[in-house]
Order: sequence, then C-alpha cells, then structure tokens
Amino acid sequence: MSAQSAGQSSSQGSGQDFGKTLGVTFVIALVCSLVVTGTHLALKPVQESWTDVARYRSVLDVSGLLPDTPATDRELAALMRQLEVRDVEVSRKVNGDVKVATEPVFLVWTDDRLQRVILPVAGQGMWAPIRGYLALEPDLRTVAEISFHDIGDTPGIGDRIQEPEWRAQWRGKAAFNDAGEAVLGSGDDPRHRIDAVAGATITSMAAMRLVRDALGADGFGPFLDRLRRENLRPEGTGP
Ligand SMILES: Cc1cc2nc3c(=O)[nH]c(=O)nc-3n(C[C@H](O)[C@H](O)[C@H](O)COP(=O)(O)O)c2cc1C
Repeated sequence: MSAQSAGQSSSQGSGQDFGKTLGVTFVIALVCSLVVTGTHLALKPVQESWTDVARYRSVLDVSGLLPDTPATDRELAALMRQLEVRDVEVSRKVNGDVKVATEPVFLVWTDDRLQRVILPVAGQGMWAPIRGYLALEPDLRTVAEISFHDIGDTPGIGDRIQEPEWRAQWRGKAAFNDAGEAVLGSGDDPRHRIDAVAGATITSMAAMRLVRDALGADGFGPFLDRLRRENLRPEGTGP
C-alpha cells in the first residue's frame, strides 16, 4: 500500500470515529431526556396532590373545622369536601396591570347555616408576593381568622406575620367602616386598627393592604354584597 492511500484510509477512519462518537452522544442525550421527561410526568400527579394538601391545610387553618389533634391528609381531604366552593371573578393588579381572574371562595356550612366565608388574599410584600386566606364571620364583616401560607419576604423578619400572636390581633376586627369601605388594619379606630409586627412594619402594612384590596370593589366586595342579598343559603338549596 502506498503512503498516499494509507493516509486516505486513516483520515476516513477518523471521520468514521467522529461520526460514531456523535451518534453515541446523540443516543445517550436522547435516552437521558426521555428518562427525565418520563420521571417528571410520572411524579406530576404526586407533586400536584402535595400542592393540594398544602392548600387544603391553609384553607382549613381558618375554617374553624380543624380538630385539636393533627389531622392526616385523608382527614384534611374529607374536611375539604365539606366546604362549598364558588368561583368568583376578581380584578388583580399584576405589575401595574389589572387582570381579571377567577378565584375560589370557600363557604363553611353547618346544617345549612353559614359559619364562615373564606377568601383567598394575595399581593406584593416588601420583596415578593404574599398569599393567604381571610375568614369572615357569617355577618360578612367581622374577621374570624387570617393565615398567610406563602410569604416571600425575609425569613425570620417578614414571615413573622404568620406568628399566632400577630394573627390573633385580627380576630373580631371590623373589615368595613360605616360607609362600607374596606378599612381593615388602617387608621386609629380600635375596631379596625391592627399594629404592625415590630421590625417587619413593611411586610405587615403590605399584608393589611392586600387584605383591604381583596375586600374592595375590585376584589370580593361585590361577591360579599351578592351573598348578603342571597339570604345566606348553600348554593342550589334556595326556594
Ligand atoms: C436584610 C434585611 C431584610 C429585611 N427584610 C424585611 C422584610 O422582609 N419585611 C419587613 O417588613 N422589613 C424587613 N427589613 C426591615 C426594614 O428594612 C426596616 O428596617 C424595618 O421595617 C424598620 O423597622 P420597624 O419595622 O420596626 O419600623 C429588613 C431589613 C434588612 C436589613
């Protein structure tokens, strides 16, 4: 074999090696991406059910239905089924834009008597969004309970709004003034006033503001007015 043809076959060989390496890399990448996609799809229902359980806990936290002893996930799911859920359209301010969204409101009934109305509340904290649930008494004016379950502000500072002592201050407060305006937390009137957590004033004020927004005309205000006119019956049981 001449030196020229030996050189040709060695360059052909290295070209084939490169093609093989590329092929093997492609197959490995394909297999890995299939494994990752498969695992993601297989675990999605599990992940969603955990998200549901976390949400159940937050709603039930303000429902007055939770037993004194810790409830299992199955018990939580059973309690959740006792609640009536109504989808309500509200406007939400997102980065300055007003967006209309459908939010679930939870109604707690005992023998067709309304016990609590649970409204989702959400808005911007000092650094990041805050989410929670506000429960109103059957008069639809007095705070029964509040809980914040998703607080993006500084751990150890902003998230102190979830401390039981601060949440206890909200109980029994009047959400609206005599003119029907949502004034919860603001002003000096002790019927509405809520003191901020020391050292976390900004997050506390943000929490009060987002609750007022939720109760206002762009939030659940019109829904609460409708509920007042409805004679307070579970949906579908009216005359
Ligand atoms: C690193 C850092 C993180 C902070 N995070 C928060 C927070 O999440 N929420 C809040 O209200 N204040 C936070 N603060 C405190 C405020 O910046 C401000 O100092 C405080 O609200 C003022 O004290 P006061 O609440 O007693 O009026 C933080 C301060 C620092 C230095």
